[in-house]
This record gives sequence, structure tokens and C-alpha cells, in this order.
Amino acid sequence: MKKNCFFYNYKNKKYSITPNGVITSKSHSNIALIKYWGKHNNKIQIPLNSSISYSLGKVYTVTRLIYQEKKKSNLSIRVFFSGKEKTSFIPKILEFFHRISFYCSYIRDFNFIIETYNTFPHSSGIASSASSMSALALCIMKIEKKLVYSLKEDFFLKKASFLARLGSGSACRSIYPGLVVWGCHKAIKGSNNLYAIPYPYEVHSIFTKIEDTILIVDDEPKKILSSKGHKLMNNHPYAKDRFKCANQNMNRLISILKIGDFQEFGELIEHEALTLHAMIMTSRPYFLWMKPNTLNVIHTVWDFRKQSNKNIYFTLDAGANIHLLYPIQEKTSILKWIYSDLFSYCKKIIESFCLYNYLCLLFWWT
Ligand code: PMV
Repeated sequence: MKKNCFFYNYKNKKYSITPNGVITSKSHSNIALIKYWGKHNNKIQIPLNSSISYSLGKVYTVTRLIYQEKKKSNLSIRVFFSGKEKTSFIPKILEFFHRISFYCSYIRDFNFIIETYNTFPHSSGIASSASSMSALALCIMKIEKKLVYSLKEDFFLKKASFLARLGSGSACRSIYPGLVVWGCHKAIKGSNNLYAIPYPYEVHSIFTKIEDTILIVDDEPKKILSSKGHKLMNNHPYAKDRFKCANQNMNRLISILKIGDFQEFGELIEHEALTLHAMIMTSRPYFLWMKPNTLNVIHTVWDFRKQSNKNIYFTLDAGANIHLLYPIQEKTSILKWIYSDLFSYCKKIIESFCLYNYLCLLFWWT
């Protein structure tokens, strides 16, 4: 671990927090347009390419963190998910606490009870680590805010993103609404590997009101965890080209977002999604995330787009499920079509949207 501006040492400071308390935070899931896939071979989650995502409305995690001053030296954590105790979540959270304790030494003084729930069904195929780790990071930062009254909002959010990254890479982007960038990219001012930043450039209005309808074709928990997939990029034969391509796609996306070309945008995100899947299909060992219904949906979307000229494009996460992105203006007709022509391929449909309202930061911060 390296000391940086996020290092916190309260040794000489007087304790200014009640010994017991409860903190609540909420954080949204996100969907990457340019995917993060591959990280440096270490435990500190440094990405091998920059990524950009939309934070998503309606799909979020709410976490209540109960902290109690520790009487004995060993740390105790209990985790409750949707009201039920989940001992299986403890190792990942302990590992997270261990990683962040260097930057938040105060957490060593407490035992924790974590009560958490998602607004989306468990095992629905939506990556919950992004929203859950970022919600937890926000809770930790609220403890820090109690200790440091002068803590500024900007620092609070940056450090929350920094901590969330240590839990799950993509979680660092969930701290902000709108378009969020993580990972150093020459063309994006302020972008860096340690924490995410809100996309800093002009965005055409068409990209500020986007629907995201999530088609759950497979609701089983993932068989190949993303941590395993990231590792496979370390000696992947096409890794170098993939990182180069992601870098170029980011350059292209910057101008697309400015001029508002939805068709170019759609082609770029579909290419990104298929490239991510191509990487996992050509790794060693190789895997296949797509299910027959993933392909059925993709082909049906392509046919529909050709016939109707509608702006509807897909992206995929590390799994079989599909996100359909389209402008809000097309919502009524496209949703109608989704329910009539795609419903039979899905276990569930979740109507979400790209959260693009910076006012909501006020709620996240308090
Ligand atoms: O944050 P992780 O380690 O779960 O990896 C996420 C990887 C993708 O979801 C496939 C891409 C991304 O950038 O979110």
C-alpha cells in the first residue's frame, strides 16, 4: 500500500465520534459502455484500460452500517442481506476492510453489523458488487466525515470512489451519477487509475436521457467470477490489441458524445460488448457467457433495427444478460415492442434508465 492524499492517520487526534452509531448509504449499479477488463497483477485494482459507464436509475443497494466500539482486539463483522444473515459474504467484506484499513485506520476500532438490500432481485444477473461495494465505501466515508468536520464534498466523493475501487473495480464508478470515467486516458483530463471522475466534457442532450431496459435471460449466479476473468487477461494472446482498441474507442466516444450521433454510439457499444465476450471466449481456459436466448435477443434487435430504423442498441456485462439502450423519446414504442417480441426469451425484464441528474449527489452525500 502507498501513502497518498487518502491516507488517514488519526493517532494524535481526539476521538470525536460516538462509540456506537448507525449510518445509511445508497448506491446505484452501473453499466459500462467501454469495458474495464484486465487489471495489473496485484491486489489494488489498477485497470489495464480506461472505462466509462452510465450509472443506472432504479437499480441500487441500500446499506445500513452499525458500528460499535471494539472491546476486544479482533474484528467482528455480521452481514444481513434482505433481513437474512449471510456468513458467505463475510470473507469478501473482511478482505475489503483489510485493504482499506491502511487508508481508514479508524475502522480498526469498531465491530460492524452490515444490513443491506438491493432494489433488484438477488441473483438477477445484474452485477451487485458495484452498488454494494460503493454503498459500503460511502458508509465508511460518513464515519470519516464524523471524525473530520472540515472534510470537503469533493474529497469525500473522491475517497469514496478510491475505497470502492478496492472492493470491486467497477464500484468506483458508482459513486457518481451520469457518465463516469475510471482509468487513465490521455484525452480525458483528470482521469486516473485510483478513482473515478464524472465525465468532464460536453455531452449532447440525446445522451442525457437514455433508457436502459435490462433483459434477464439467465438468473443463475455467475459461474465465472469477474476476478477470475480479469486475471485471464494477463497472458491473453489478444490483450495488447484489446487495450489499444479500448483506448481508441474512448477517443471515438468523446466526439460521439459531443455531436450526438446515436447510431455511431450504438455501434461502438455493441462492438465493445462483443469484444469483451470475445476476450473471455479466447482466453485459456476459455468460457462462454452467452446463452441461446442472448443470441436470440441480439438477432431480434438487429432485425428490428433494420426494419424500423429505431435507435436501439445492446450492451452486455460479464454474463448472459442484455442491456438495451435507447433514447427516452422512443420509450413508449420500443418498450411495447420489447414486451411483445423479446419477453419470451427472458426470465425477467427490468426497466431502468441512465441516471443523469447531478442533483441526486446531494442525497448521496448526506
Ligand atoms: O468490477 P469488476 O471486477 O466486477 O469487473 C467488472 C467488469 C465488467 O463489468 C465486465 C466491465 C465494467 O467495466 O464494468
